[in-house]
Amino acid sequence: MTDDTPTYAGPERVFSGVQPSGDLHLGNYLGALKKFADLQDDHDCVFCVVDLHAITVPQDPKLLAQKTREIAAAFYAAGVDPDKAVVYAQSAVPAHMELAWYFNCVARMGWVERMTQFKDKAGKDSERASVGLFTYPVLQAADILAYKATHVPVGEDQKQHLELSRDIAERFNREFDVPGFFPLPEPLIKGPGARIMSLKDGTKKMSKSDPAETSRINLIDDADMIAKKIKKAKTDVLGDMPSDVDGLEGRPEVENLVGIYSALSGDSVDQVLAEFGGKGFGAFKPALAELACEKLGPVTAKMRELLADPAEIDARLARGAEAAQEISAPIISEVRDIIGFWHKS
Ligand code: AMP
Ligand code: TRP
Repeated sequence: MTDDTPTYAGPERVFSGVQPSGDLHLGNYLGALKKFADLQDDHDCVFCVVDLHAITVPQDPKLLAQKTREIAAAFYAAGVDPDKAVVYAQSAVPAHMELAWYFNCVARMGWVERMTQFKDKAGKDSERASVGLFTYPVLQAADILAYKATHVPVGEDQKQHLELSRDIAERFNREFDVPGFFPLPEPLIKGPGARIMSLKDGTKKMSKSDPAETSRINLIDDADMIAKKIKKAKTDVLGDMPSDVDGLEGRPEVENLVGIYSALSGDSVDQVLAEFGGKGFGAFKPALAELACEKLGPVTAKMRELLADPAEIDARLARGAEAAQEISAPIISEVRDIIGFWHKS
């Protein structure tokens, strides 16, 4: 039997979001920000500071706005151009909250209960987690689909949330008999930066919430700090750098450092190993530290420069919110009509 359900035929659009919580690190830069900048030239892009997601865990009201500006500054510093891409704060555009409610009524408990990120974040005492933390991935689906986005650049850890977004889109289209109304968004995960691991444990992802500062390189770290953290990064006792990919088997810390080098330099892992194979970490680590400083230094400097003028960031974010509102409002209006509400716009 062939499936002749019409599929989404609208234009392609890229959407992604980053939370204003904790300091951004190398994983965020390589897994997300750098990809955003690479996509903006030939795609219609919408990038959001997801402050509504941040409040699923307690936030200091005195710091939230400033953290939002910091993430916006990181977007711009990583090369996202507000004249090419829409950049704004999620709480400034009501479409997210509204569509999230509708999607709460479309998503099934069983689907959301399967989400591993909730289990990780809620920990042992999930009864005390906020309801918002539980429906976090439903809000994420609303973020994406309020813009009918077709492609979502994220790190590997977001794969399961993207699958849920697809399930929600598909069920909405089916339940309301509007085939092809919402696209089924595709994750853009490929590439060497999609899963950067902790510098202290090659089997754990680099994370904002890791209590060990030396486990991650933060975007605000200066050159000395970057060099120190790379010098201290865990390796193993299995000898020098391998010369080919097979030699990385069972060496997660080395694989991670090689992956970071590859993602920062743009060289393939094979090329990196061809250059450093047979050499000791005494040669590789300083080369990696130098490369990291060379690539991250300008981003950090630009971020600091932008943060010195918060009014300019606010003005840019306000323009972005207007643009985001213009795209999402007609989509929400259509959704209201489809659900059958008395009030449509
Ligand atoms: P978050 O800090 O959780 O808001 O993540 C922002 C973006 O960075 C998301 O697209 C994540 O998938 C990505 N990301 C977070 N940690 C990593 C990591 N260790 N490696 C690659 N990408 C990551
Ligand atoms: N959950 C994502 C993260 O932790 C952030 C996010 C929220 C997001 N909404 C999104 C990512 C929409 C992509 C698309 O990294």
